[in-house]
Amino acid sequence: MSIHKDVKKVTTHTLQKMKLHGEKISMLTAYDYSFAKIFDASGIDVILVGDSAGNVIAGYETTVPVTLDQMIYHAQSVVRGINRCLVVVDMPFGTYQSNSDIALASAIRIMKETGAHAIKLEGGEEVLDSIKKIVSAGIPVMGHLGLTPQSIYKFGTYTVRAKEEQEAEKLKKDIQLLEEVGCFAVVLEKIPATLAAEVTKSVNIPTIGIGAGAACDGQVLVMHDMLGITTEFKPRFLRQYANLGEQINNAVKKYIEDIKKKDFPNESESY
Ligand code: KIV
Repeated sequence: MSIHKDVKKVTTHTLQKMKLHGEKISMLTAYDYSFAKIFDASGIDVILVGDSAGNVIAGYETTVPVTLDQMIYHAQSVVRGINRCLVVVDMPFGTYQSNSDIALASAIRIMKETGAHAIKLEGGEEVLDSIKKIVSAGIPVMGHLGLTPQSIYKFGTYTVRAKEEQEAEKLKKDIQLLEEVGCFAVVLEKIPATLAAEVTKSVNIPTIGIGAGAACDGQVLVMHDMLGITTEFKPRFLRQYANLGEQINNAVKKYIEDIKKKDFPNESESY
């Protein structure tokens, strides 16, 4: 039996069941209506409206400048495109770290204004109060541990996290805390595969990996990376499934050529 194929709507409970049955969870980022519609029709389990929008949509170097209004705009567009998948929205930097009341107000805005199903935020023990408050308001929360891009200025680089004992121990403790306070799933970004395997076994909630090896309960990639739209970003964990950047480039070149040689539009393309 495939849980993924049987369900009409993917919920947080579906993901829980998938973990129990050893069925892997597929998650992909999306930021607009058109791609969300294609991904949903393809059968993706979860769409993450990631704050990676800051990188791949807005062209910022980091996710730090992304605002709540921008995330809400992207999430509204994505939700209009889907029928079946679960939509999770990233809370951007500055909307949940300072205090739990601000965190709850930000999460409520996302849920009320977008129609999305859950939020995601980065960090462990240090953001626990915010998670507790959001969960107790009935909003499903996905955690995010390991490489947390909103803290890039603390880390200094985007290299693999938790290779050292101390950081690995903190991550093990953090994932327990996230489960205890009611997160329904946790993203594990760029950590050693052995550590991801260990923590995946240690909790009942699903882990979704990005650069965290095959033992995670699911996998996530940024759509622009896996479709070959971003060409300069080639980390080891990335599998590129299409070469859209090149295809689009060729299509646009041909379009320009056709205009220049007065071949487009032709008679059948005119009124
Ligand atoms: O913002 C994002 O796209 C993410 C994924 C990389 C997990 O958080």
